[in-house]
Amino acid sequence: HEAISVADFAKAVSKKATEIVAKLIKLGVMANINQVIDAETAELLADEYGAMVEIRKLDHEHLLSTEDDIQENLQSRSPIVTIMGHVDHGKTSLLDSIRSSAVVTGEAGGITQHIGAYNVDLGSGKKIAFLDTPGHEAFTQMRARGAKVTDIVILVVAADDGVMPQTIEAINHAKAAGVPIIVAVNKIDKPDANPQRVMQELAERDLLPEEWGGTTIYCNISAKERIGIDNLMEMIMLQAEILDLKANPEREARGTVVESKLDKQRGAVSTILVQNGTLRKGDIVIAGTCYGRVRAMFDDRGKPINEAGPSTPVEVLGINGVPEAGDLAAVVADEKTARQICTSREEKVKNTELTSKGKMTLDDLFSHM
Ligand code: GTP
Ligand code: MG
Repeated sequence: HEAISVADFAKAVSKKATEIVAKLIKLGVMANINQVIDAETAELLADEYGAMVEIRKLDHEHLLSTEDDIQENLQSRSPIVTIMGHVDHGKTSLLDSIRSSAVVTGEAGGITQHIGAYNVDLGSGKKIAFLDTPGHEAFTQMRARGAKVTDIVILVVAADDGVMPQTIEAINHAKAAGVPIIVAVNKIDKPDANPQRVMQELAERDLLPEEWGGTTIYCNISAKERIGIDNLMEMIMLQAEILDLKANPEREARGTVVESKLDKQRGAVSTILVQNGTLRKGDIVIAGTCYGRVRAMFDDRGKPINEAGPSTPVEVLGINGVPEAGDLAAVVADEKTARQICTSREEKVKNTELTSKGKMTLDDLFSHM
């Protein structure tokens, strides 16, 4: 539990709920029986009773991991890839060329709906999920929220321009996140392209190419002329195999909010990247301080779907607000639980705001009791 109600806690330590309420008030926490207390407070209380109450915090990275899953329930999942690189080095062009070469021609409409993430089908069951983060800022913001959304970073470096400040920034981001990098040396169609120089510059930054005895995969490509794209896809699948990515499709879904917005016609719309489990229509989802029953789901092409397994980005309708990018999205048992957790989170946010604004500290609040 991230949070537990006073009543449930009382049950867990075999005490009367009223006694717990009294204890809480002594600790400076105003509470009633139905109220949810956070993990920190519950731990404090459990200490008081010398009880062994295991209250695990909803740690983002832990929840997205498969640590709680039984080994035999785990199945291979597709890699989730983010394209990064310096301005104008060809990130958007690469994503476009990947998508258009994979999109089956003659599909209804032909225009792909933009949901900030794409599933690319390579055929024979091979898929790659691409995250279209609008830049390094989004990546950093997501990481700051504890979200680990990427398995592999594709570092795009223009062969005519070489390593630039944002190239280095991207390397640092990927390294800090512990995500392996595949280098895509782009614009090799240009007469002044110098892929060797890119390799040299990056080798100095710990990205030693395989052909020089290192472990970093380099792919020469032209996003514009569509050269080397298939090879790049193969290299991504190879890296994914090395990473041995697994998930349990049988469990309740967990993932990360990639983006969310208020749509005039459809209301609150969230793009969620499912990372473990399967998200289904009708599930109750909490995302940040928002929650709701999944009313409808759409894939990256805007096609309605009823369920989404691991490594699948989906657009979700039914959540009662717009969670922030990087927020954890998790399916819970029922609406009551969802409401309780969200209320507790909101209170936490409110308290932090009050404290940080310096208008009123928590002590001030409690001194009025
Ligand atoms: P930002 O989003 O602004 O950071 O740029 P980006 O990295 O997304 O680059 P984008 O794909 O917009 O490409 C920048 C310019 O480079 C465009 O004019 C592209 O047409 C051009 N370009 C991209 N890839 C290639 C390539 O392989 N060869 C050549 N010759 N031009 C390319
Ligand atoms: Mg771009």
